[in-house]
Amino acid sequence: MLDLLNRPLKNLRLSVTDRCNLRCQYCMPEAEYVWLPREDLLNFEEISRLVDVFISLGVDRVRLTGGEPLLRRDLPSLVRMLAAKPVLKDLAMTSNGILLADQIEALKEAGLKRVTVSLDTLHHDRFAALARFDELTRVKQGIAAAHRAFGTLKIDTVVIKGTNDDELVPLIEYGKTVNGEVRFIEYMDVGGATHWSWANVLSRAEMLERLSAHYGSVTAPANESSAPADRYALPDGTVFGIISSTTAPFCSSCDRSRLTADGMWYLCLYATRGTDLRAALRKGASVDELRELVAGLWRQRDDRGAEQRLALGDRRAFVPIKALKQDPHLEMHTRGG
Ligand code: GTP
Ligand code: 5AD
Ligand code: SF4
Repeated sequence: MLDLLNRPLKNLRLSVTDRCNLRCQYCMPEAEYVWLPREDLLNFEEISRLVDVFISLGVDRVRLTGGEPLLRRDLPSLVRMLAAKPVLKDLAMTSNGILLADQIEALKEAGLKRVTVSLDTLHHDRFAALARFDELTRVKQGIAAAHRAFGTLKIDTVVIKGTNDDELVPLIEYGKTVNGEVRFIEYMDVGGATHWSWANVLSRAEMLERLSAHYGSVTAPANESSAPADRYALPDGTVFGIISSTTAPFCSSCDRSRLTADGMWYLCLYATRGTDLRAALRKGASVDELRELVAGLWRQRDDRGAEQRLALGDRRAFVPIKALKQDPHLEMHTRGG
């Protein structure tokens, strides 16, 4: 099943809660938000049924996201239900790491295959400035626990000029100590990034320049690049990634869609309208009816939000705060990063 730009549906990003225990500047900087009503959240059976619909249409990779996914009660039960689906080649989770040390064993035992932990700085004071609370120690404990459990992990760093762009090398060096593949992410002008401006974006080109200045030549390993990250190797073989969604988007090969915790389905990170699959599900739609609904929408998909943003001359924060306050679904933390 292909969309209008010949892209298959392979990846599902599944947000299990819109809540988070941090307030990162680039994602959800406000103290309070309009949270999704509890009764609207899909229960695990509903999520599992929807995942079956997606699997029947080609999805073979699922990533659990949030908000912070570990705030969802009893997450290992959901992981167990999803891990039992033999078609899924990948079952991953993106977490801020705070609660990871406590939960990683149960998640692994339930069938989670891998984790990515967000870490933007190695300085306590900066952590607090960037995320409102200094949770660096617990995040590092979470990363250490993921290293012990899985032997490896990915580390996501959103790079913001003037904030943490002097930490590329220290973060790579830290990554080496935990067998973590660091991915530097260009700052994106998504929903909650209300302070975004071009002046704060460190581009992939600039990142590579700085890393080569320190390490010597940085090479792109053959055949190893897969969206969203371009992967590179340092002279000592250390691999790292760069996600350049702001200056060099990967829309042309984007095979992903997003399901929010309350069952809204979005065809693009930048989509302003989604489809309410919860309503269809709770009205008693059969698997075939849901399948038809999803397939019909995917076949009409022509989204390439990041490319369109790039084409804009005057680019500023994507969604004004007023609009965000009216519709939490426009928030990055509601649609899973
Ligand atoms: P891997 O399968 O391990 O490569 O996971 P991933 O990189 O897809 O997931 P992760 O949650 O670690 O996302 C990393 C970054 O990529 C996030 O900052 C996202 O903002 C960005 N990203 C993820 N999905 C999309 C997408 O669909 N479009 C764009 N433009 N950026 C995305
Ligand atoms: N720009 C780039 N990446 C972002 N993320 C959240 N907001 C932004 C933004 N404005 C990242 C988080 C997390 C991933 C799921 O999305 O750091 O690693
Ligand atoms: Fe896919 Fe939209 Fe992201 Fe482009 S901006 S890569 S189409 S989700």
